[in-house]
Amino acid sequence: MTDSDSAAPSSPTPPNYDWDGYGFDTRQVHAGEREERNFGARVTPVYLTAAYRFASFDEAEARFTLAEEGQLYSRNLNPTHLVAEARIASLEGAAGAIVVGSGQAAITGLLLGLAGEGEHLLATASIYSGTRVLFDRTFARFGVDLDYVRDPRDADEWERLIRPETKAVFVETIPNPKNDLVDIAEISRITRRHGIPLVVDNTVATPCIIRPLEHGADVVVHSSTKFLTGHGAALSGVIVDGGTFDWAGSPRPYPGITEPVAPGKPSFLEAFGRHALEAYLRFGIVNDLGAALSPVNSFLLQQGIETLSLRMAKHQENADAVATWLDGHPAVESVDYAGLPTSEYHGIAERLYGGQAGSVFAFTVRGGREGAQRFFDALRVFSRMTNIGDVRSMALHPATTTHVSFSADERERLGIHDGLIRLSIGIETASDLIADLDQALRAAVGATPEETLS
Ligand SMILES: Cc1ncc(COP(=O)(O)O)c(C=O)c1O
Repeated sequence: MTDSDSAAPSSPTPPNYDWDGYGFDTRQVHAGEREERNFGARVTPVYLTAAYRFASFDEAEARFTLAEEGQLYSRNLNPTHLVAEARIASLEGAAGAIVVGSGQAAITGLLLGLAGEGEHLLATASIYSGTRVLFDRTFARFGVDLDYVRDPRDADEWERLIRPETKAVFVETIPNPKNDLVDIAEISRITRRHGIPLVVDNTVATPCIIRPLEHGADVVVHSSTKFLTGHGAALSGVIVDGGTFDWAGSPRPYPGITEPVAPGKPSFLEAFGRHALEAYLRFGIVNDLGAALSPVNSFLLQQGIETLSLRMAKHQENADAVATWLDGHPAVESVDYAGLPTSEYHGIAERLYGGQAGSVFAFTVRGGREGAQRFFDALRVFSRMTNIGDVRSMALHPATTTHVSFSADERERLGIHDGLIRLSIGIETASDLIADLDQALRAAVGATPEETLS
């Protein structure tokens, strides 16, 4: 026996559970994971339980009064969710996050938590059509007033529309279908001056392309149904709290956060400090509204996030190839893609988005509505459907679908013309996507496969 054979075995190092300071790719796989002590399961288990057993009378009271944070009911805390929430907060550089049933639930919970009857929100006009419908139909019924900024680059327009009762500004990093990127750093300078939280929907960009909190945003929301999940199998939404907005110092009142939760009790701000908004939403408004996510969907969200950066790189590469090719196609009138040097949004893409414009954009086919219809019906690789951010490539005709309830005037102002087609570019082989688009464009203009188009 040698000396080394007889040495006492070294004790194994414990696994790492603190991923702060690690790279993005490492954190998308690991951040937020917790040790599973029962069986050592390596992948986060799906905790399919509506509620949790209390150890005692005292523990039940402590959980209900928030004197002690812990599981009580899955409408506000679930162990599967906790991992997804910590992971997304890490990727966005945030204080915390909460997951909810859908992107729409995230936007509703957050904004109804900030603004009530007689109050006002300001948003950019080109945000997702479903969010506009939510604001104009449902928020209007609740007495929450909305105004839309037509040109987010026009500081005077923002200043004109901000009112004393404006409680949040809502923008998207990469709006669809027009890919009209927003300079959130510039907008945040305006919202800061007014003490208004800047809420950014980062669904299309994801934290791979831009982390809005680094550019002055206060809160980020996601339809994680899209790129974060990536496989298109489940709906989910996320509210990401930057933890830096000064709720008490703003000239605008946020009583849900700054006032006692009950007589004699501290406010969420006093009890939770930089996690005040997260706690207010988790234990207050989102819990009240009942927008809970299924733990199964939370599991599916985590499965997607693990490969986010790999998918996003391929989405981006394919989108660049397809947009550049479309831009030179004789059957195409125009391409709305900030990745093209000719786009009026290219400068913003270069300055703020690392030269990337995401993979959801639009183009206009020759022949108006009829051309669009012939193109759409000829697609074989692209799916005709209304999702975005899936690994599969998809196409949609906004004028007759997502924007069909908008007036013709409003569609015109938004540039949703009859020949406009929205694409969400997936991760397939780029030449297959281009070949599919080519045969469909030929069908749109009545050309044969052999004909040279001009
Ligand atoms: C940018 C954006 N935000 C929010 C939503 C709403 O998300 P969900 O469909 O998950 O409710 C969508 C849906 O398309 C979207 O594209």
